[in-house]
Amino acid sequence: MKMSKVMVMFILLMVIMGLSLNVMAADKIVLGFSQIGAESEWRTANTEDIKRAADEDPDIQLIFSDAQQKQENQLKALRSFIARGVDVIAFSPVVETGWDTVLQEIKDAGIPVILVDRTVTADDSYYVTYMGSDFVEEGQKAANWLIEYMEEQGRGNEQINIVELQGTVGSAPANDRKTGFADVIKDYPNYKIIRSQSGDFTRSKGKEVMEAFLKAEGDNIDVLYSHNDDMAIGAIQAIEEYGLKPGKDIIIIGVDAVKGAFEAMIQGKMNCTVECSPLLGNQLMQAAKDIMAGKKVPEHIKTIEGIFPQEVALEEYPNRKY
Ligand code: AHR
Repeated sequence: MKMSKVMVMFILLMVIMGLSLNVMAADKIVLGFSQIGAESEWRTANTEDIKRAADEDPDIQLIFSDAQQKQENQLKALRSFIARGVDVIAFSPVVETGWDTVLQEIKDAGIPVILVDRTVTADDSYYVTYMGSDFVEEGQKAANWLIEYMEEQGRGNEQINIVELQGTVGSAPANDRKTGFADVIKDYPNYKIIRSQSGDFTRSKGKEVMEAFLKAEGDNIDVLYSHNDDMAIGAIQAIEEYGLKPGKDIIIIGVDAVKGAFEAMIQGKMNCTVECSPLLGNQLMQAAKDIMAGKKVPEHIKTIEGIFPQEVALEEYPNRKY
């Protein structure tokens, strides 16, 4: 069967258009991002923000991988990014240690690395920049707020028994929020951490561990310091089921400033949350583009954050973006 001239022209046009679309796609910066998982409200907001920023950026093609809280899955994802020859690799390391070998492999492949949200203990020459919060400072803010609050309540000289819900064992925010808080309270001998255990940054574990704290300590607990709001929200449930009033019988401080914490504060069940912003999407896209353009990028792109006590929760709630 003979094809008409028009038909031939049409096919040629389609081929040319297809080729130019491919060239355009090839022009994009391919960014491989390995996310930890979906353990908290914070993490979900972080994932959404990164995907949104990539979708809105015509220069970026994002390859997103969810590690479901497992370091082995993150290692696999990073190695698959090397195999695919992405332009830039970004990841939020679930824990701080165990990255040296893969970071060396990425370096050997000549791919620049951006750490998002969490740091690693590996040599900082392995990555171009770390963007995220100062977790030590967050722990310090939580402790300073507590000390001031107790003084305002006329309880500054009382014996204050604190239970601590730690984040994921070995993660930068768990290590650093613990250190920052402890640094401040060490100068106040009447403030004592009587129990401290990991709730893995999840609501369900936060509840489970708080139940164990209550079983062991009963009415002896004055304060709960939780390394994130999700665990604090889980703990609130445990405290209510135990028959105590969260936010009154037990003072509760969380970290993140997610909407759930504001809702708990509005109901009087939580006393304070230290902000840790997950909205890193735009910064990440910008850093990837700057690195590819050969521009100098700061070693630490620090997120500026506040602290929200219960008194401002109602007014601030409508402004919260996550
Ligand atoms: O690394 C940031 C922490 O990870 C958030 O505080 C916590 O909610 C999340 O899971």
